[in-house]
Amino acid sequence: MRNKLKTITVIIFCLVSIWTINSCKKEKEATGTDKELYEMAKSTSGFTWFKNSTSLLNKSSGSGHPQPFLRTRYNSVAASKLDSNGKVMTGATFPEGSLIIKELYDNSTTLGRYAILYKKTGSADADAKGWVWGYINADGGVAEAASKKGSSCTSCHSQANNIDYMLMNKYFP
Ligand code: HEC
Repeated sequence: MRNKLKTITVIIFCLVSIWTINSCKKEKEATGTDKELYEMAKSTSGFTWFKNSTSLLNKSSGSGHPQPFLRTRYNSVAASKLDSNGKVMTGATFPEGSLIIKELYDNSTTLGRYAILYKKTGSADADAKGWVWGYINADGGVAEAASKKGSSCTSCHSQANNIDYMLMNKYFP
């Protein structure tokens, strides 16, 4: 009887452990293109901010991103398509090497995720317009792999008045 009880206790302990470990599993760590995008997204040096401002913006009504706050920055290549007010030029097509990072904030102080657009025509993960789509959590977990070529992003980003997919100008005029 005692032994039977002991066996049952051990089995229950094992099941609870397995369940706990599984429910704690993080999203997959970034590798390949995702890792490359993550490393590029983390540094803010050399970027120009949308409307030249580092302030957090409330997400727009059209946002496909769950986080309540955001701010967007452009690397020096992409910034060649910004006007003096830090808005994207009308009719712009971004040059090769452009990197646009939208920082998505869970609250006013905690960065939760990077939404990334990187123009790299030669990449195996680039879509028909040469853009690679990244969606990576601040801790490096992959929310959506670049190998999916933005399949959940492109239709919304192709809506009327996008500029080479960009929507910041439309929603933050
Ligand atoms: C339902 C619509 C929708 C979907 C789906 C969507 N987005 Fe967005 N995205 C927006 C809107 C609207 C903005 C403008 C800022 C805001 O309000 O979030 C934006 C802004 C961005 C920006 C900043 C550059 C700019 O001007 O557009 C990036 C980068 C971005 N999204 C990446 C992504 C990625 C990567 C995905 C897919 C994983 C995605 N988006 C899916 C609507 C969407």
